[in-house]
Amino acid sequence: MKSILGIMGSPRKNGNTHILVDNILKGAQEEGVKADVLFLTDLKIKECDGCHRCWKGEECPKDDDMVGLYPRIIKSDLFVFGTPVYWYGPTGLMKLFIDRLVYFNCPPNRAKIRGKRAVIAVPFEDENIETASLLIQTFKKCLEYLEMSLIGKIIVPGLTEKGEIAEKEKYMQEAYELGKSIALKK
Ligand SMILES: Cc1cc2nc3c(=O)[nH]c(=O)nc-3n(C[C@H](O)[C@H](O)[C@H](O)COP(=O)(O)O)c2cc1C
Repeated sequence: MKSILGIMGSPRKNGNTHILVDNILKGAQEEGVKADVLFLTDLKIKECDGCHRCWKGEECPKDDDMVGLYPRIIKSDLFVFGTPVYWYGPTGLMKLFIDRLVYFNCPPNRAKIRGKRAVIAVPFEDENIETASLLIQTFKKCLEYLEMSLIGKIIVPGLTEKGEIAEKEKYMQEAYELGKSIALKK
């Protein structure tokens, strides 16, 4: 693995998603892999309005930060998508980001993302693990559609307060080990 891009989809900095994503990236960095993080809450990402220009191989006409992110996405080998469960799905920030991946739908652009890999980090409040199942399916399906693959996940129930994941040593270690293992993938 050469480079990893973390995509932090919670609006809450230093919250559970942020800490999980950081721990995954820390594990990867300790194996010598370059790993950066994007805070979607700091970026201006407008909604895809289905103009279909990118499907015809034209540039996205939106004047926002996502346009500048496409080259960064193309350069990365693996993505760590972090989002808490919001109403059984991802946050609005993450959904806007996913919608704009439609840029990779047309054949010339598809080739730029095909084969890349991803892991997801998902904290949520409910104790029932099933609460995350629709969200996991969403990532799995979207990634498959883009000819990418979901190769790992860390799903953490029972988290309400900002940052309380830091006290759950088992999950902190699991996130760190996940980072190390993805870094070692060829
Ligand atoms: C708008 C909103 C919707 C939420 N929806 C759910 C939900 O459907 N199920 C659940 O278990 N937790 C839900 N939560 C709780 C968060 O998933 C939980 O607090 C999580 O730990 C927040 O992660 P963060 O610290 O990274 O922001 C919701 C929280 C908010 C603010």
